[in-house]
Amino acid sequence: MSGLAFPQLKDMASAYARKAVQLDRAGQYEEAMTYYKRAIEVMEKVIRLYPESGVSQIYAEMIKMYRKRLKALESKLLASSVSSGDSEEKTGSEQVGTADDPFFKEIVLEQKPNITFDDIADLEHAKRAIREAIIYPVKRPDLFPLGWPRGILLFGPPGCGKTMIAAAVANEVDGIFIYADASNIMSKWLGEAEKNVAKLFKFARAKSTEGKPVIIFIDEIDALLGRFSSEVGGEARVRNQFLKEMDGLQDKDSKYHVYVIGATNKPWLLDDGFIRRFNKRIYIPLPNEEARLEMLKIYTKSLKLDPSVDLVELAKRTEGYSGSDIKDLVIEAHNRVVREYFEAQRGEGEPRPITMDDFLQVLKERKPSVDKLMLTRIESWAKDHGA
Ligand SMILES: Nc1ncnc2c1ncn2[C@@H]1O[C@H](COP(=O)(O)OP(=O)(O)OP(=O)(O)O)[C@@H](O)[C@H]1O
Ligand SMILES: [Mg+2]
Repeated sequence: MSGLAFPQLKDMASAYARKAVQLDRAGQYEEAMTYYKRAIEVMEKVIRLYPESGVSQIYAEMIKMYRKRLKALESKLLASSVSSGDSEEKTGSEQVGTADDPFFKEIVLEQKPNITFDDIADLEHAKRAIREAIIYPVKRPDLFPLGWPRGILLFGPPGCGKTMIAAAVANEVDGIFIYADASNIMSKWLGEAEKNVAKLFKFARAKSTEGKPVIIFIDEIDALLGRFSSEVGGEARVRNQFLKEMDGLQDKDSKYHVYVIGATNKPWLLDDGFIRRFNKRIYIPLPNEEARLEMLKIYTKSLKLDPSVDLVELAKRTEGYSGSDIKDLVIEAHNRVVREYFEAQRGEGEPRPITMDDFLQVLKERKPSVDKLMLTRIESWAKDHGA
């Protein structure tokens, strides 16, 4: 392969990788290993010869994954040659769908997060929309002869409560909650990601026959499309699998109460086909003054405040701050008191209350974390796609 140019090498790497995964899935591990090794060899060559080609980083990551897989296969073969028993881990989408699968152990929440809608400042529109979208159709499916939305997209700047809301849904809606971080789905080796998507939905459908709605929450959903989109042989497969599964749910004859809530702070990474499946799109914006005040109240509730502290004034001065910025502001102001307590007061007596000046000092040093550019981008997306 010494004389081969970049495109040929890339094709070759693709072909080897695909073959390896195919064999691996079919349980032909020894042969699979041979192809993983070949794929690695070619990819290493590409990295060496064409470091600027743009695939180097992806290849490097894939090489890592393949090496890991090779190791796993090696020990697997070793183990089976010793015991020759049937200790084979089950692969292939046929056998999945049981809660014993380690994949689900990671993502199905047995314990509900201890957070409710009441802990979340403002965002009433989002809370209501979610309640309506899930609770009404569960109660009276007959009132929705044309079907009902199965996909809900929460989008907005970082730190404004998307993940929080989704976590609270587990408590607000009497259902089964599956929390699937997109990186959880994606971080497996080639071919595994799309299988994970299929597994996930199969599991959800099976669960939903128990009479409660099943809510799949996919955080950072843009990662399903973005990060590995140029993966060799993996182009668009995860995305297509996902769209197929969503269509299955959306089918007007579908009786499954399976809902997908996706969250993203980079909605522009989602393509039209993807967006269409999320027919309910909810903008989670930066908090307005009223919401900021509510947050300040929530976060200072258990703290000792000096009478000089004027939360209304602070809410006014924190224009542009996200929920998470506000929380950090309170934590940092409190830290000043604690630091002083240990340094100046040497841990004697009681710490002094937090003063307005503590807050103002912190505000001087802490600027909002969401920059203007990002905000403009999200807002214009919201204008075009909000629903
Ligand atoms: N509306 C809110 N009410 C109370 N606290 C909030 C609110 N929004 C954000 N926070 C605080 O900010 C933290 C981060 O919020 P969250 O993780 O929900 O943000 P996000 O929108 O999912 O951000 P990202 O896009 O970065 O994932 C929360 O843990 C909470 O402490
Ligand atoms: Mg989040």
